[in-house]
Amino acid sequence: GRPLDLAGRRIVVSAGGTREAIDPVRFIGNRSSGLQGYALARTAVARGAEVTLVAANVTLPDPAGAKIVRVESTADLRDAVLEASAGADAVVMAAAVADFRPATRQGSKIKKTDGEPEPIRLAKNPDILAELGERRRAAGAARAGAEGSGVIVGFAAETDDVLANGQAKLARKGCDLLVVNQVGEGLAFGTPDNAATVLVAGGEPVEVPFGPKEDLADAVWDLVAARLS
Ligand code: C5P
Repeated sequence: GRPLDLAGRRIVVSAGGTREAIDPVRFIGNRSSGLQGYALARTAVARGAEVTLVAANVTLPDPAGAKIVRVESTADLRDAVLEASAGADAVVMAAAVADFRPATRQGSKIKKTDGEPEPIRLAKNPDILAELGERRRAAGAARAGAEGSGVIVGFAAETDDVLANGQAKLARKGCDLLVVNQVGEGLAFGTPDNAATVLVAGGEPVEVPFGPKEDLADAVWDLVAARLS
């Protein structure tokens, strides 16, 4: 059995992938299944946490015991995560967030034309993880997690210079833990297994061997629980 080391803790997990509308029927999206975020939510519930799961376009069965907030776009995800994370003990951004969205959303379906189609212009989306870090800094709440400042966890897919790029991202985004997925080794979206290195602010990286996404989730919660105690 799992330890009840997250009992009484309020935890927010984002999962899945955001979709950005082009017109009423089309969107720009990604292949995130939500499996890792759902595994994080399930294992946190099993360890005693009160979990809010912000799910972007996930079709998996609801994890028992978690509060689920369903979102579609990055703007929706941002609103839901910022609201749920106020006063939370930990926030884990496992969702694949669209970096760009169509600059304008067409009110009606774009029609097929004989000539060349119009290009879709893109606009930058806000970086929610970086915003969580900035908000914590601005609040001067970089105290121990026990004081309620909240542990911030990000995910990143890096293909090369994993440690150097990951450490830079950890610092840039102001998070406490950054789970760096080893991509490009036949590991695919939608698979039940994962391998990763968890980078720790002010600590040594933790290697999590290839295995079920629950194992990676438990490794993350071990590190979160240690920072909260
Ligand atoms: O910068 P990069 O996309 O590699 O960072 C990935 C991490 O940042 C993930 O935790 C993801 O949920 C988060 N992210 C975010 N907002 C964005 C892009 C990524 O919160 N616009």
